[in-house]
Amino acid sequence: MFCRGRLIFTVRKRKRDDSLELKKTIQKIAETKSITEEELANILIIAEKEKREYLFQKAREAAERNYGKKIYIRGLIEFSNICKNDCFYCGLRKSNNRLDRYRLTEADIVSCADYGYELGFRTVVLQSGEDLFFDDDKICRIVREIKKRHDDIAVTLSIGEKKRESYEAFYEAGTDRYLLRHETANRRHYENMHPENMSFVHRRKCLSDLKEIGYQTGCGFMVGSPGQSIHTLYEDIEFIRELQPHMVGIGPFLPQRDTPFGEQTARIEGIDSTEENSIVDSTLILISVLRLLFPKLLIPATTALGTAHPMGRELGILAGANVIMPNLSPVSVREKYLLYDGKICTGEEAAECINCLRRRVEGIGYQIVVDRGDCLE
Ligand code: 5AD
Ligand code: FES
Repeated sequence: MFCRGRLIFTVRKRKRDDSLELKKTIQKIAETKSITEEELANILIIAEKEKREYLFQKAREAAERNYGKKIYIRGLIEFSNICKNDCFYCGLRKSNNRLDRYRLTEADIVSCADYGYELGFRTVVLQSGEDLFFDDDKICRIVREIKKRHDDIAVTLSIGEKKRESYEAFYEAGTDRYLLRHETANRRHYENMHPENMSFVHRRKCLSDLKEIGYQTGCGFMVGSPGQSIHTLYEDIEFIRELQPHMVGIGPFLPQRDTPFGEQTARIEGIDSTEENSIVDSTLILISVLRLLFPKLLIPATTALGTAHPMGRELGILAGANVIMPNLSPVSVREKYLLYDGKICTGEEAAECINCLRRRVEGIGYQIVVDRGDCLE
């Protein structure tokens, strides 16, 4: 005979058992700093908000043990949107002839850094497409000038794949850090997102060169990029374990309409994206997993996360992120650095941006600090 009371009891009990299992898995990950592919899958498919909260809480605790409630800021200077590459997902790709291209002058770049320094930034990130106009001499000159003017500032470059000698020259000139997202640790997935002339092997070689030279190195990937699966994400984690970067930047894939992936939606194969478990949720889960596996890592709450959700950056911090990267580029060029559609913070002056972020960060109980924000070794 059908007994409704018993059924409800069984369902409730199963739910409780599931929750308990999940908590145990999360505790195990936090304690052993290791994860299996199956555990990753079980965590990524968590559909209930309340269950995810335990994961986020554990990640926050790990961040706090190492970094307190401090949020480091990096001032981003997007100095050229010209790129020789043609990545299928990126709005800066060379085949995108609808983009209005720009380059800042060397003097403009240096004055952006001065302005950032005045606002309290002790790290600037010089980012661009792969623009050959800015050869090694120019880059070294800019880095030297910024370091000469502010001896307590850290300079980060994020200008793509270069020869080892170039990386050495930038380092000699005083560059402290380098960001180069690996994009994916799976060759087939990489080839799915890039044209044939871009090499999976070369990208990894660049990252190992950067580490060997002595840079504080950042890698990273998009969440939900076409062809991504739980397995490729697991490979990303393994790759991070091997490379031991200082920073890992992750943000949701956001389609840009003038690219070959303009019609794609962010999705991880094997996970049903729903309102309760969206790509933003997957990104937050991955931030937490990274925090638990690599407690000292610098993890930014990215602009892409803030674009995908109005509270994305706050949620990122509450999931274990500890860095934000406000824009220092002149407002006149902001809209032109269009990696993806809908990018936020393109209208405000840097000073407004930082005040807005300070309020937001304080609103959730954290503080933005004036500090270089080096990774704890
Ligand atoms: N959506 C989200 N992130 C993107 N990036 C490039 N295009 C997109 C997009 N459409 C990320 C890449 C790149 C970084 C600078 O921005 O991971 O490495
Ligand atoms: Fe410029 Fe990908 S489009 S590096």
